[in-house]
Amino acid sequence: MKGILMAGGSGSRLYPLTQVVNKQLQAVYDKPMVYYPLTVLMAGGIREICLIAMERDLPKFQQLLGDGRQWGIKLEYRVQPHPEGIAQAFIIAADFIGNGPVTLILGDNLFFGGDALPRALADFKGGATIFAYHVTNPECYGVVEFDAGGQAVSLEEKPARPRSQYAVPGVYLYDGQVVEIARSLKPSERNELEITDVNRAYLSRGQLQVNRLSRGFAWLDAGSSSSLFEAAAFVQTIEKRQGIKLGCPEEAALRRGFLSLEAFEKLAASMPSCEYRHYLEGIGKEAARQHLPLPS
Ligand code: G1P
Repeated sequence: MKGILMAGGSGSRLYPLTQVVNKQLQAVYDKPMVYYPLTVLMAGGIREICLIAMERDLPKFQQLLGDGRQWGIKLEYRVQPHPEGIAQAFIIAADFIGNGPVTLILGDNLFFGGDALPRALADFKGGATIFAYHVTNPECYGVVEFDAGGQAVSLEEKPARPRSQYAVPGVYLYDGQVVEIARSLKPSERNELEITDVNRAYLSRGQLQVNRLSRGFAWLDAGSSSSLFEAAAFVQTIEKRQGIKLGCPEEAALRRGFLSLEAFEKLAASMPSCEYRHYLEGIGKEAARQHLPLPS
C-alpha cells in the first residue's frame, strides 16, 4: 500500500495566517499540522508516500520532511498547479500510484485512538474503504447515509439537508481503479474534482466499504481558525494527561521497525534540547529496557 498526503489547496479559510505559511505547516500545539496525518500513514505501515502541494508551498515541505530517509520512509513530491479538488491527487500522482492500492489522507485531518485505521489497512483487499464519523455539523463534510441493515446507500458532498449525522473523514483506501475513476470525473459546482464522487463511483460498482468509527475515536479537522485552536487544545490535553505524543513520525518509525533503536537515538540526539527531543529520548530508553510499548 502506498500513501498520498494531500496538502494542496489555498488555505483561504485561515487567511491571514496562510499568507506566508500554508495551512498544513501551521502549528497544531507542538508540531506542524502535516506531522499528524503523516504519522497516521506511517503507523499504518505505509513507507512510500507522495505529498502533493501548491508550487509555492512545496519547498517548505521539502525543507521540513526531506526525502523521508531520516524516518526510514520514502517521500516524493508533486505539484498541484491549481486548487481543483482532492480527487485531482490521483491524476497528479498517477505514475506514483501505478496499479495501486493507495491510501489518501488529507493534510489537515487529525485522527486519534483505537486501531480502526491500521486494521482497515491490514485488512484491505480491494475496492474502496472509507469511514463514517458521527458529527454535529455533517453539512460541512461528505455525508454518508445508511439503510436499516447498516449498508451505505448514498453519499453527498456538503448537502444543505444532510440525510444522516455521519460525515466522511479525510482518509480513504482505494485499489488501482481510482486513477481511471478520477480521470472520468467532471468538476463540481465549486469547480473541483470531488473525492465524494470517487466514493460514489465505488458505491455504484458495489465495491465501497464504509467503516463506522466508534465512540471514543477522535477525528478533528484543522482547516478553520476555531477548529485549528480546538485541535491544538485536544492534542495538549491528551499529551499532558497521558505523557504520549500524537503525530510523532520518529516514534511511529521506531514502533513500526522502520528505524533501528540506534538510528532512532541518533536522530533524537541531533535535535536541539527541547521537549520533543526529551520525549524521544524517553521512548528510546523505554524501548531499550524492552518495556511494554506505550499506547500507539
Ligand atoms: C473535504 C471533502 C469532504 C470531507 C472533508 C474531510 O472537504 O470534500 O468530503 O468530508 O474533506 O475533512 P473540504 O476540505 O473540501 O471542505
